[in-house]
Amino acid sequence: MLFIMLLPVLLVTFLLKLYKDSITPKKTLRGKHICITGGSSGIGKSLAVLASQQGAHVTIIARNSTRLSAAILEISSERSSDEQEFVTVSLDCTDTNATHAKIKEIDDKRPIYMFVNCAGFATCGIFEEMTQADIKNLFDINYFATVNTLQALVPRMKQRKDGIVVITGSQGGLMGIYGYSIYASAKFALRGLAEVLKMELDCYNVSVTLSLPPDTDTPGFETENLTKPKETKLISEAAGLVDPQVVAQALLNDALNGKFFSSVGFESWLMTTLCVGMTPFQRYFDVIVQALTLGPIRLISSFYITNFQKIVIKCKEEREGAKDK
Ligand SMILES: NC(=O)c1ccc[n+]([C@@H]2O[C@H](COP(=O)([O-])OP(=O)(O)OC[C@H]3O[C@@H](n4cnc5c(N)ncnc54)[C@H](OP(=O)(O)O)[C@@H]3O)[C@@H](O)[C@H]2O)c1
Repeated sequence: MLFIMLLPVLLVTFLLKLYKDSITPKKTLRGKHICITGGSSGIGKSLAVLASQQGAHVTIIARNSTRLSAAILEISSERSSDEQEFVTVSLDCTDTNATHAKIKEIDDKRPIYMFVNCAGFATCGIFEEMTQADIKNLFDINYFATVNTLQALVPRMKQRKDGIVVITGSQGGLMGIYGYSIYASAKFALRGLAEVLKMELDCYNVSVTLSLPPDTDTPGFETENLTKPKETKLISEAAGLVDPQVVAQALLNDALNGKFFSSVGFESWLMTTLCVGMTPFQRYFDVIVQALTLGPIRLISSFYITNFQKIVIKCKEEREGAKDK
């Protein structure tokens, strides 16, 4: 009888312990080298600040030297020890040869333990109005720049049998949203890349995490907003805006824990659970939660999708109405 009464308490304690284990980082960055593309702004810069606070040697990569210098001052001011080294590298990661050479040079000087691909941006617009330059730029920075950096670094991490790779995708890389035809295609491609790398690298003790930020309050997001069609704005508004520090903290914890998907907030959790597919898992507990919740979440998703479709139809009618006047 006593056991039956205690059962709920034991269950809650067990679940709390599992939750605590999943958010407490198992690995540490102290004394290790983290290299972040796109580290001079937004999510990448927030992550570099956290790494600095945790005692890592930090290298940030971006194109603009002035912004790199300003960012590294801010990042290094958060250091936790005098031994930490802070380096900026001005590089266009879409340039394949230059990127291969530079990543090897950085890694020769101090082996990279954690590599984060954060350089990227979104340009919106309806499909037929996206220019050839938009399409090329979006794939170059979001997809090919990631491939360029990782092709130079992955063989070295495999040889060392140690390392963490983070690829920054997007919630927009899990579902197609009006106005994101090309950006979403590039981010969907990153998901495929991350899943394959996870399977190829696990046995070399190199973990792969795919960060899936929701709309995040960064300079990049401000620029993206300027290109959004009305439909995209109305659909995105439903989800709200997250601080880059929150995304960076989740990314860091999840990467240090070897989690595959890294997401923030309830809606992102719904999306990542819904889109879990054949992604790798760490614990059977997660698989059981996903198996039990997938059906109801699919039902919930139908309300969102219906609402999004209504927005698209309403905007079309408004446009056609305006034309007729
Ligand atoms: N913010 C969001 O709402 C959001 C949501 C989902 C996913 N994401 C993803 O998260 C990542 C970071 O986004 P963010 O909003 O934090 O961006 P951000 O504030 O615009 O910062 C972008 C960074 O990438 C660098 N960069 C751009 N092009 C580059 C290139 N060719 N070579 C090297 N560095 C380059 C930029 O510096 P330079 O311009 O000086 O090169 C800057 O440091 C991106 O992959 C983005 O797609 C963002």
